[in-house]
Amino acid sequence: MSEHDFDVLVIGAGPGGYVAAIRAAQLGLRTACVERTPTLGGTCLNVGCIPSKALLHTSEEYAHARKHLARHGVMVSDVTLDLDKMMAHKDQVVGALTKGVAGLLEKNDVTRLEGHARLTGPGTVEIEGPETRTVTAGAIVIATGSVSSPLAGVDVDEECILTSTGALALAEVPERMAVIGAGYIGLEMGSVWSRLGAKVTVIEFLDRILPGMDGEVATQMHRLLRRQKIAFKLGTKVTGAERTNEGVRLAMEPVAGGESATLDVDVVLVAVGRRPNTEGLGLDSVGIELDAQGRIPVGERFETSAPGVYAIGDVVAGPMLAHKAEEEGVAAAENIAGGSGHVNHETIPGVVYTAPEAAAVGMTEEALEEADIDYNVGRFPFAANGRARAMSATDGFVKVLADAETDRVLGVHIVGRDAGTLIAEAVAVMEFGGSAEDIARTCHAHPSLNEAVKEAALAVAGRALHV
Ligand code: NAI
Repeated sequence: MSEHDFDVLVIGAGPGGYVAAIRAAQLGLRTACVERTPTLGGTCLNVGCIPSKALLHTSEEYAHARKHLARHGVMVSDVTLDLDKMMAHKDQVVGALTKGVAGLLEKNDVTRLEGHARLTGPGTVEIEGPETRTVTAGAIVIATGSVSSPLAGVDVDEECILTSTGALALAEVPERMAVIGAGYIGLEMGSVWSRLGAKVTVIEFLDRILPGMDGEVATQMHRLLRRQKIAFKLGTKVTGAERTNEGVRLAMEPVAGGESATLDVDVVLVAVGRRPNTEGLGLDSVGIELDAQGRIPVGERFETSAPGVYAIGDVVAGPMLAHKAEEEGVAAAENIAGGSGHVNHETIPGVVYTAPEAAAVGMTEEALEEADIDYNVGRFPFAANGRARAMSATDGFVKVLADAETDRVLGVHIVGRDAGTLIAEAVAVMEFGGSAEDIARTCHAHPSLNEAVKEAALAVAGRALHV
């Protein structure tokens, strides 16, 4: 491959792209990573997963101090919020991590290129940046991620009508906030501002929240979030938004038909999904055609229809999740190096970092029913877990779904404190093709929240011990 400037050129330095670049370099390939923004890490590090988790954590601590510590005999008074400091902490975390990515690329001898990359033909990319140049590479990995989907009639200005980027950087706590979309972003950002004192109303098109997650999880989360004073308007369509002197007036109507209504708020967060970011990439120069959802079609090896051009992460099919992109980045790099990189898409966990968290891996009950697969279900409530009681974290449950014939674990769904961490056990078991009995016969530390996973696995065979 030495006739090229690089063996591998990765376009995009988000979690998919920078990980692909590191892995390619580890495998001895001369690798470059091109990014159009000055900081590395993509949406996840700069305006997504990481800053949102900083705000989620701090706002949860604030809510704990105000509302929950007294129950444990810790009396605090005069708990006040310094939003500037909270934001400064978030910015400091983001700054350190994005610099960390730059350090990782350097350590692995990945050449960093700055600018907007556009394919101009097989193995050729034009980079428009501080200085425009053309580079050639034996393999190209497209890892350009996704952008917020727009909503007709609700024009984002990042001032009063926000995407998640604006919602991560509000200068003051709004009195009233509307969130359009009850998915991951809507519920996480809605939780942050609700805990800080905003009156949050979530408007969702469907008649349930968290589409794609197990129905029982969605029902429970809906109940728990309402208890936190987040209001929901389900089965409701936003038809327009108008700037007023005080903020925004939203027009909405029931999806099933009926009277339209308005809602006056100070800010609106539009969180109706994200779409693949393929604009200006020059895909037609190598003959790549997008699918009906605007994604780049790839095969199992993550190679597109254009030989030597690979695509991973949010621009290809599957959940738009950083960890899924990372796995695909590693697999694509290994395939480019002549290996056999592979991603098991059946075992990609999904986590909603609200309080409590909701986490899932594998199939939902609805999906099992639709696929006509016989399954057994085991449930265990955190209210029956000693550690959860000690922590006042009794909301939620673990549900294990196992094949009725083989007992193989097909799905695990958790609502509860640290569900996002607890799910890792289920992912590992599923990755090894394990059964509910495998979990049930594995010794779990006592007292720990993990025991609820074991008990739910025991419950699959009707032999939970503590309920
Ligand atoms: P989403 O797809 O999770 O949820 C969007 C919601 O908006 C859905 O419930 C949908 O029914 C609803 N919706 C669509 N059009 C609507 C309309 N016109 N009116 C009212 N509701 C409407 O998308 P979201 O929350 O924007 O997140 C985007 C992506 O970012 C997701 O794919 C998610 O995986 C990822 N993400 C992941 C996080 C995590 O892993 N914790 C956190 C934040 C985002």
